[in-house]
Amino acid sequence: MNNFESIIQFINQSPKTELHLHIEGSLEPELMFKLSKRNKVEIPFKSVEEIRSAYNFTNLDSFLKIYYQGSKVLINEEDFFDLTWEYILRCKQDNIVHTEIFFDPQSHLPRGVSFDTVINGIHKALKKAKDEFNISSKIIMCFLRHLDEESCFDVLNQACNHKDKIIGVGLDSSEKGNPPSKFKRLFEKAIAEGFLTVAHAGEEGPPEYIWDSLNLLKIKRVDHGVQCLNDEKLVEKLVKDQIPLTVCPLSNVKLCVFDKLENHNLKKMLDKGLRVMVNSDDPAYFGGYLNKNLIETSKALNLELLDVKKLIENSFKSSFLNDEDKKKWLKKIN
Ligand code: ADE
Ligand code: ZN
Repeated sequence: MNNFESIIQFINQSPKTELHLHIEGSLEPELMFKLSKRNKVEIPFKSVEEIRSAYNFTNLDSFLKIYYQGSKVLINEEDFFDLTWEYILRCKQDNIVHTEIFFDPQSHLPRGVSFDTVINGIHKALKKAKDEFNISSKIIMCFLRHLDEESCFDVLNQACNHKDKIIGVGLDSSEKGNPPSKFKRLFEKAIAEGFLTVAHAGEEGPPEYIWDSLNLLKIKRVDHGVQCLNDEKLVEKLVKDQIPLTVCPLSNVKLCVFDKLENHNLKKMLDKGLRVMVNSDDPAYFGGYLNKNLIETSKALNLELLDVKKLIENSFKSSFLNDEDKKKWLKKIN
């Protein structure tokens, strides 16, 4: 077996965790089509192939437009269950043993879908995943940062009725022009209510958004964070405090953050001692689930087996699992 073949084998066989996955971003065209019929929701596509061929993005905003449009087929609890269950089957295929998933209630509530419908559908599928496959999970509710503070406070209040299911809150959607400072009071309230916090920062936006996410939003992890290499002081801080960065390579290429995977900065980040790991973000839109992200990135950046091991270890260390479970899985990798 050559070096690359043994890396692929390691990726396929190793237990893994995923920390950056939008459940609405795992809506495959086949299920979108099926739900549009089941719920009589019109979509501007005549076939699954037509949906796929619309997935050419030039930046984050060009993706978000299609992503929010796709989410409109999700109406009933059963839809959110089916969506989540399909992702869980992919987890099983990829040997993901623990996953921490985002959901975007603000893209459903204005369509008359209740918070309970969304969270209960997702949660029931995750419970079944634990019962049938022993796949564990956490749920993180994301605020849509292009919306105003009031709308975000409204969903935070609703999340407070589901503290048994939701471990934390995050910040996603259109980054540029929607700085973390806009949500300082919101995140203070979320923390006071006992939620952990994370935020998308430095995906397209500047390093200052990463600083502000750390200082104002008190985040435990940076989602993406690839722009941090443009600020030496920031890199120093992220390395010193071992702040996790949930990098999503195929997403970054699809959204033109990097022109090609060979030019992604993940290997540079690893070599600087940053606590990075690989995730799939919105796999139904970006062309691959976790193992494909790991395999293609390893190939494009000539990663060594030790690099790949480090990525997978970092992911377990950065998860919201308890220390005992982290130890158990880290031992299994080695
Ligand atoms: N929502 C879903 N995917 C996202 C991403 N990559 N960045 C920001 N918001 C998102
Ligand atoms: Zn994301």
